[in-house]
Amino acid sequence: MIRLTPLDEDTLARLLEAAVTGADPLEVMPPVDDPPGWTPRRRAAFLAFHRARSLDPATAVERTWVIDVDGTAVGAARLEPHGDALEAGIWLSRAARGRGIGRQVTALLLAEARESGAASFVASTTAGNGGARALLGGLGAALTTEGDEVTAVLRLRP
Ligand SMILES: CC(C)(COP(=O)(O)OP(=O)(O)OC[C@H]1O[C@@H](n2cnc3c(N)ncnc32)[C@H](O)[C@@H]1OP(=O)(O)O)[C@@H](O)C(=O)NCCC(=O)NCCS
Repeated sequence: MIRLTPLDEDTLARLLEAAVTGADPLEVMPPVDDPPGWTPRRRAAFLAFHRARSLDPATAVERTWVIDVDGTAVGAARLEPHGDALEAGIWLSRAARGRGIGRQVTALLLAEARESGAASFVASTTAGNGGARALLGGLGAALTTEGDEVTAVLRLRP
């Protein structure tokens, strides 16, 4: 069963574990100048990144959820307001990819966006990311490509 669990300090620890065991740092966080892999400095930066973006009310810019499958964290989902639009983002650990989880999480994020009254639902990825492009195309949204960036915008209300 797939559940979105709001991020807090406890779920953040589980999220770090999912990232370290199943994702490359660059798939799940901004670049950190350090030797490759999940070094202590990169792990600390992952925690600081989520605290700043979601958990600290003074700096928070988005809502983040841990994606739990049968109680195990397998990735993260986020919604970030930009004016009256909500921008969505998802990453999954390698073992969880290609099993329809991204599709279901996208539907949950879309439902949350509709419920919150957002005017549109926006997401973007890179041209080479076949999975993410298929997900965005399946939303029924128009896709626009600018350089390497593919953006989907779905209007939720007039
Ligand atoms: C991108 C991502 C969120 C997609 O989630 P997912 O659970 O793997 O995708 P799903 O299994 O739900 O598949 C969704 C669609 O993509 C297609 N798809 C999945 N992986 C694919 C791939 N590697 N190449 C092409 N299409 C792919 C599926 O066939 C499906 O299409 P359909 O519904 O039309 O049949 C996930 O693969 C991921 O986290 N990747 C690494 C991090 C990342 O790239 N995040 C997004 C950054 S924008």
